[in-house]
Amino acid sequence: MEFEVLRAQAEPGESWAALADRLAPEHTAGPVLAADLSGDPLRFRVDPQHRFSVRPMTVGDLGDVVRWVNEPHVARWWDENRTSEQVAAYYGPALRGEDPTRLWIWEVNGRSVGFVQDYRIGDHPEYALLCRRPDAVGFDYAIGEPAFAGRGIGTSLLWVFLRDIVWPAYPAVRELFAAPDHRNAGSLRVLAKLGFTQGLWFDEPQPDGRVDTVIGCSLDVAQVMGVNQPTRQ
Ligand SMILES: CC(C)(COP(=O)(O)OP(=O)(O)OC[C@H]1O[C@@H](n2cnc3c(N)ncnc32)[C@H](O)[C@@H]1OP(=O)(O)O)[C@@H](O)C(=O)NCCC(=O)NCCS
Repeated sequence: MEFEVLRAQAEPGESWAALADRLAPEHTAGPVLAADLSGDPLRFRVDPQHRFSVRPMTVGDLGDVVRWVNEPHVARWWDENRTSEQVAAYYGPALRGEDPTRLWIWEVNGRSVGFVQDYRIGDHPEYALLCRRPDAVGFDYAIGEPAFAGRGIGTSLLWVFLRDIVWPAYPAVRELFAAPDHRNAGSLRVLAKLGFTQGLWFDEPQPDGRVDTVIGCSLDVAQVMGVNQPTRQ
């Protein structure tokens, strides 16, 4: 079930997410999800067929991760760390708590379908220099199960992830940031539908010596999710 709201219906200081929650039709069966925030009206939806959830990744998920990064629709955009050893070495430090990057598994109706990570870009100085967003929170994502990709659920999964997992965890963050390859039309479109706007194009050197040209996409957190005030200790 979809519904629309006009940007002008937001009260002063009210985020689009709060606006949608306020104006959602009564008795909606499930959380309000972004459908397309790239225009005006803003489009939201409720999806009673699917339960989208996010849980922490564990070492027991690495077999799925290896399989997913080798699926052609992911491998095309995921050029490194494909063997079991590489995946374990790459994600091991974060899984052991030695790296502040947070790793997650996406679930649809209880089934693991993909993975996603979030991190402070400032924790990665080389990348922060490249993308010039040192104060933003970055994230990377993949729907690994082929049967679940290209079916229109990426926007819902990312909305649940960004609103329920990322936004509450970084008080006072103003910008969420992702930088898909400039040819990754599906990923760029999903970000646009979540309310991201495109900014700087930059070249990202890859471990194999190639250079990918990517497009920095930013979400204005206050506008879309709301101001997340730091809690006083
Ligand atoms: C990127 C990803 C999360 C998108 O989620 P998804 O559920 O597969 O995407 P959707 O089916 O909702 O498609 C998203 C939009 O992109 C459009 N799209 C998809 N592929 C496209 C293409 N090749 N060219 C143009 N538009 C395309 C779709 O039409 C849709 O737009 P619409 O709703 O306005 O019609 C998912 O495909 C994925 O994980 N891919 C592999 C890994 C990856 O690319 N990760 C991102 C790295 S930055």
